[in-house]
Amino acid sequence: MELPSITWFLVLLVLHPELAKSEECQQQLEIDMDLEEMACKNFHQYACGNWYASSVQRKLGAHDMRSKWLANMKMQLIRHLGSDSSPVVDSSSSAQLTTFYQSCMSSDQSLRSYTDALIRSSGTNFPLLQNNSNSSFDWIPVNAALRTYGAPSFWRLLVLDNWQLADQKIFYILSPTFDLLGHGDEFTEFFYERNLKMLLMELGLRVRRAAQLAANLVEFEKSLRNLTPENMENLSVLREPQKLRDLELELPELQLRRYFDTILQGLDWDPSTLLLVADIGYLRGLQGLLAKQTDPLILSTWLLLQLPLRFEYKMHEDEKLSTQQVRCLDQLRKLMPGALGRLEIELMLGENYQDVYDTSIQQTALLFRDLKQQFELSLNRTEVFNEDLVTRNLAVEKLRAMRLLTPRLQDPTGHAATGATPLGSNLDENLIQLSLNQARLEFRQAVFGAEAVTSMPSDPFSVNAYYRLKLNRIELPLGLMATPLAREHHCPKEAGLGFILAHEMMHALDYDGINYDATGQLANGQWPARAIIRFGVRANCYIDLYGNATVAINENVADSEGLRLALDTFRRRNGTQNLRDFFVTYAQNWCGTSNANLSGIPQMVTHSGHVDRVNKVVANLPEFGEAFHCTTTSLMNPINKCRIW
Ligand SMILES: *[C@@H]1O[C@H](CO)[C@@H](O)[C@H](O)[C@H]1NC(C)=O
Ligand SMILES: *[C@@H]1O[C@H](CO)[C@@H](O)[C@H](O)[C@H]1NC(C)=O
Ligand SMILES: *[C@@H]1O[C@H](CO)[C@@H](O)[C@H](O)[C@H]1NC(C)=O
Ligand SMILES: *[C@@H]1O[C@H](CO)[C@@H](O)[C@H](O)[C@H]1NC(C)=O
Ligand SMILES: *[C@@H]1O[C@H](CO)[C@@H](O)[C@H](O)[C@H]1NC(C)=O
Ligand SMILES: *[C@@H]1O[C@H](CO)[C@@H](O)[C@H](O)[C@H]1NC(C)=O
Ligand SMILES: *[C@@H]1O[C@H](CO)[C@@H](O)[C@H](O)[C@H]1NC(C)=O
Repeated sequence: MELPSITWFLVLLVLHPELAKSEECQQQLEIDMDLEEMACKNFHQYACGNWYASSVQRKLGAHDMRSKWLANMKMQLIRHLGSDSSPVVDSSSSAQLTTFYQSCMSSDQSLRSYTDALIRSSGTNFPLLQNNSNSSFDWIPVNAALRTYGAPSFWRLLVLDNWQLADQKIFYILSPTFDLLGHGDEFTEFFYERNLKMLLMELGLRVRRAAQLAANLVEFEKSLRNLTPENMENLSVLREPQKLRDLELELPELQLRRYFDTILQGLDWDPSTLLLVADIGYLRGLQGLLAKQTDPLILSTWLLLQLPLRFEYKMHEDEKLSTQQVRCLDQLRKLMPGALGRLEIELMLGENYQDVYDTSIQQTALLFRDLKQQFELSLNRTEVFNEDLVTRNLAVEKLRAMRLLTPRLQDPTGHAATGATPLGSNLDENLIQLSLNQARLEFRQAVFGAEAVTSMPSDPFSVNAYYRLKLNRIELPLGLMATPLAREHHCPKEAGLGFILAHEMMHALDYDGINYDATGQLANGQWPARAIIRFGVRANCYIDLYGNATVAINENVADSEGLRLALDTFRRRNGTQNLRDFFVTYAQNWCGTSNANLSGIPQMVTHSGHVDRVNKVVANLPEFGEAFHCTTTSLMNPINKCRIW
């Protein structure tokens, strides 16, 4: 076919906006492509061969497309928060962000801020600070005061979804994690002990005494660590939620009622309805240990140092500027996620960010609706449910009940995150203040439930979506909504955000998903054996395809079936045009190399590497071979293809 002349081309642009769109999409895609590579040989190389991240981006964690987007967001935030253009005096949350960041970058810290805060709020003095190591010590109010500042003490108190009744948040009492002490590795322990010694010296102890006391503190902490079972993160082995009163009867010496009286001060709470999930084994051991007349000096000093340790006091004395910037941003992410997320969206989406954001949320909802519709069509047709209307209806019902949770931007005038007290130039005071506010917010959620849950903070630095099995719900964090994926652009959205939604949707009906019903309740055996076998035979095809990768089976299935769903949805909306754009757009989600360590996203571990995520997944779709005219002998067009739905 002859190429149109320039004039013809311009006319076409005017007459066919879709064509212009495709042209612009190709220009955008070509930046990262290696056009010398053959698409049918190595599609990842073809789509991503020219992709790279600058050294500044790499310093901020960029190693693939998504982490590069995240690095760009961090660069913008650092630039914005670090510019001292306007010493703002108002108390808007945006000004508070700048105030905090600048205090974090410039302030000298003082250990006394933390010890004073602890003395003030527990009303207790500490033997170490009184020169009187023989005085008795009441650890109960200190243990509670630490939690009001968000610090762990003898136990961690978390506010989490109730694993039985997912729409409710409740308290979990778990053992500490002992990350600073380490888990038996000598180096970590050595540095921890040295760090404790430095803190004690800063409190006025002489070198020899500080060293001795630090060694004793480490010994004490090791005896706490010995109380924990091997897999203490394993919440599924915990017992059901129970009433505070019952737990008190079981563990009288821990005085849980006094603990909750302190941390829930000012909230109108009802001890008879308060629900708790507790790590009973650990708490029993703790009760025994504390009853053994531990030296009050050790006990009190260990507690005294938990607050500065929680804020990583003086652990970063000689860090590089970029490390310090990232640490200060991370503190904002933890302590003011709502305000930071709003600023991020503002910086990434520009002047009309509110409108742009609302539009992108609406488009995402439409995309979700269309994907669901398309998936339902496949479920209606699949042989998995042949002559089995009951099971098919269960699957369709679950799909229809699935919800999408998109983040709301925090109210710009919202002071909720900072409370009444505006931040100042002292980092220690700021940290204490913010942490206190945050703990109060969490406690409200646990006590008042749904009322506060709508203000759920949404992680501005998470660029992954999640499917929550027990809620039958897909969640999109704010970070993802700030990436180019969620914005208006020229390439098929179905291949970017659409694929991500489709991938998560597949988890509802994967090997784990089929055991849960439409409301997220465990419903083992709801599918008859015949349907499970038909499903299993088809799913096993993927195990062969990936060479026995049974660990990642759910992820590999979700990738391949998800891309099929995204593609079908794209074709239904747009016809058979621009299939190549679709596949390259999909592939470019996975430019760069996967590196589970750098990503900081544990979920990545069970995914296949980026090259497989592209090559194996596209090669599995016949439409790919057709679009790129791959021969039947080419690597990217194998004869055997898998399909479940
Ligand atoms: C503790 O005693 C030392 C020397 O005996 C003294 O210098 C220091 O001020 C005392 N500290 C307190 C808090 O009383
Ligand atoms: C603490 O008690 C021990 C033994 O009961 C005693 O020898 C020591 O002098 C006491 N020290 C202080 C500072 O009171
Ligand atoms: C959690 O506990 C269950 C039951 O004891 C066990 O089957 C599972 O492997 C554990 N998971 C982890 C991550 O330790
Ligand atoms: C699937 O089948 C059901 C029952 O036959 C029907 O009501 C529904 O409209 C079908 N869904 C789609 C998307 O065609
Ligand atoms: C997968 O496992 C089966 C049986 O355990 C074995 O025969 C086969 O060679 C394995 N395939 C690969 C690619 O490792
Ligand atoms: C595909 O269709 C959607 C919805 O109809 C439309 O918004 C989009 O612009 C089309 N995209 C392309 C690349 O044609
Ligand atoms: C990833 O982390 C683990 C443990 O944290 C370590 O053993 C491994 O060497 C790391 N891998 C890379 C590629 O850094």
